[in-house]
Amino acid sequence: MRSFLLAITRNPISMVGAAIVTFSTAIVATLFLLQMTGFEGGPYVGILAYLVFPLLLLVGLILIPIGIRHENRRAAKRGGQRSFPVIDLNLDRTRRIVLVVVGLSVVNVMIFAIVTYKGVEVMESNEFCGTACHSVMQPEYTAYQHSPHARVACVECHIGSGADWFAKSKLSGAWQVISVTFDLYSRPISTPVHDLRPARETCEECHWPTRFVGNRLKIIDRHEDDEANTPLKTVLAMHIGGQKGGRSHGIHWHVDPEVEIRYRSDRSREAIYDVEMRLADGTVRTYLSPLQTEEGWEAEAGELEWRSMDCVDCHNRPTHIYGQPESEVDGALAAGELASLPYIRREAVAALSETFESHEAARDAIPKRIEAFYRDSYPDTLAAESKAVAAAGELLAELYCRNVFPTMNVTWGTYPDHIGHERSPGCYRCHDDEHETAEGDTISQDCDVCHGILAWDEEEPEILETLEF
Ligand code: HEC
Ligand code: HEC
Ligand code: HEC
Ligand code: HEC
Ligand code: HEC
Repeated sequence: MRSFLLAITRNPISMVGAAIVTFSTAIVATLFLLQMTGFEGGPYVGILAYLVFPLLLLVGLILIPIGIRHENRRAAKRGGQRSFPVIDLNLDRTRRIVLVVVGLSVVNVMIFAIVTYKGVEVMESNEFCGTACHSVMQPEYTAYQHSPHARVACVECHIGSGADWFAKSKLSGAWQVISVTFDLYSRPISTPVHDLRPARETCEECHWPTRFVGNRLKIIDRHEDDEANTPLKTVLAMHIGGQKGGRSHGIHWHVDPEVEIRYRSDRSREAIYDVEMRLADGTVRTYLSPLQTEEGWEAEAGELEWRSMDCVDCHNRPTHIYGQPESEVDGALAAGELASLPYIRREAVAALSETFESHEAARDAIPKRIEAFYRDSYPDTLAAESKAVAAAGELLAELYCRNVFPTMNVTWGTYPDHIGHERSPGCYRCHDDEHETAEGDTISQDCDVCHGILAWDEEEPEILETLEF
């Protein structure tokens, strides 16, 4: 025992190693005990306790033998014998040392097992994904928290189950840590995500496309820019479809197991070139975009990649959903969160469409602007409803901060939404009546293929009265 201690204390490298080991073990143990007793320090405590200090501990453990080896070499150079320890288990002293070393190793292995388990848990937490990198993922994290998937963990869509994708994501994660540390990432983070796991292996853990949904009523609220903010409604019967009687119908036909659609596009996937459709019965059709008839179009188009269509080609914003000034204001008015003050629709959209340097600047300027409008044009309203005016200003500032992130260069429309055809070309990237086969078949833009239009910007749609909505 003494010679082991001597070996450690005789050389500075091992001493530093031993100090690091003692120090980090104490910290890991303390943080672990604190968490066991219910103390929650947020993601950073987890990162320190299960990622940073265990790494230090490992470094310390490695330094100890390196130091001993180094010291032995030096001793040998000085003419002393190269002293490899003679292990004689007949000596009580040696037996004790061996027991201590084995005992300590078992303890170390146990610490590492617990720590690895907890470390993985930390790395899979939404807080780690969403906040550990501060402003980098702030837009995605904020949008996610206000989406239908706010209770679904980031890793369920971005990694999924299975060891191979876990390893892959940690490899690309290591690169992400480097790019964040050295400020190499792009602002905004670019979309689409080219190495996203195929949606069939993630989304389909919870949803299955062959489930028959049939037609679903979709009601879209809008408001006029008049004094009364007159509400308008659009009512669509979405032909979502699914599988029925062994045959697939409607919108979810694209992801039926019997159907494969591949396409080539530019990297943004906004410009879609050839589309190839293969059906289980052997039908193959290739639709060419009109852009492809010109000589040398491939050079013009830049980098093209084949991609098999999956959920994310339409649902590219299932959780990182960003609005437009109009849709945010219409939504808030329809939900009753925004009071229907005179001309608030027009004024709110104008306020949100301005550019502010930071969230603080927006939180300062938007409420002032709204108040100024009512002070100048509707002083009576301001006097009678000062609280509602102030609340409107605050809500609008909040809506701005949920959608626009100046530090990441994310503004209205930075991330296009491919569902529909209003906010971006979306479905019309293919359904433009211009992608054509050699036989002259096109991908249809008939309004009835995707939805029945039951009402379009009407004040009191008859259909909703009939249905008693
Ligand atoms: C319901 C599934 C789902 C969940 C949950 C989810 N994401 Fe995403 N994420 C996506 C999809 C789909 C895309 C975009 C795919 C595309 O267009 O290539 C995406 C894109 C991103 C991007 C790239 C920028 C962009 O908006 O296109 C980042 C960064 C990101 N997600 C981070 C996160 C973080 C952090 C969390 C957890 C707080 C999270 N995601 C949770 C599905 C999800
Ligand atoms: C861990 C389970 C889970 C995973 C994985 C998941 N979802 Fe969901 N998804 C849900 C739940 C739960 C809801 C219902 C939320 C609600 O009703 O509020 C939902 C709702 C939806 C909706 C309807 C949203 C709406 O506006 O009503 C769409 C579309 C959707 N998911 C698409 C996707 C796509 C695309 C993916 C893969 C990128 C995905 N989901 C991955 C659980 C999941
Ligand atoms: C061709 C485009 C497209 C593809 C591909 C697609 N969807 Fe959809 N999906 C839609 C549209 C459009 C709607 C209706 C949206 C609406 O009403 O706003 C919808 C609706 C949904 C809903 C809500 C259904 C309900 O009951 O209200 C879920 C869940 C969903 N899709 C999941 C998926 C999943 C999972 C995949 C992949 C296996 C997928 N979708 C593939 C276009 C698509
Ligand atoms: C990558 C190209 C592509 C995109 C993007 C795309 N589609 Fe399609 N879609 C096709 C092709 C190809 C067909 C088959 C055309 C045919 O058979 O005439 C088709 C057929 C359909 C059909 C008819 C299915 C049936 O019952 O036979 C519907 C409905 C449809 N698409 C809806 C949508 C909607 C809604 C979107 C956007 C959310 C969309 N599509 C986006 C390529 C696409
Ligand atoms: C390829 C499928 C497809 C075709 C073809 C199509 N639409 Fe749509 N349309 C959609 C989808 C999907 C949405 C729903 C978007 C959403 O969920 O917000 C939509 C939404 C709409 C809306 C509501 C938009 C809003 O935000 O207020 C209107 C209006 C509309 N479509 C009109 C038309 C008309 C008119 C045509 C014919 C020229 C047409 N659509 C053809 C898929 C299609």
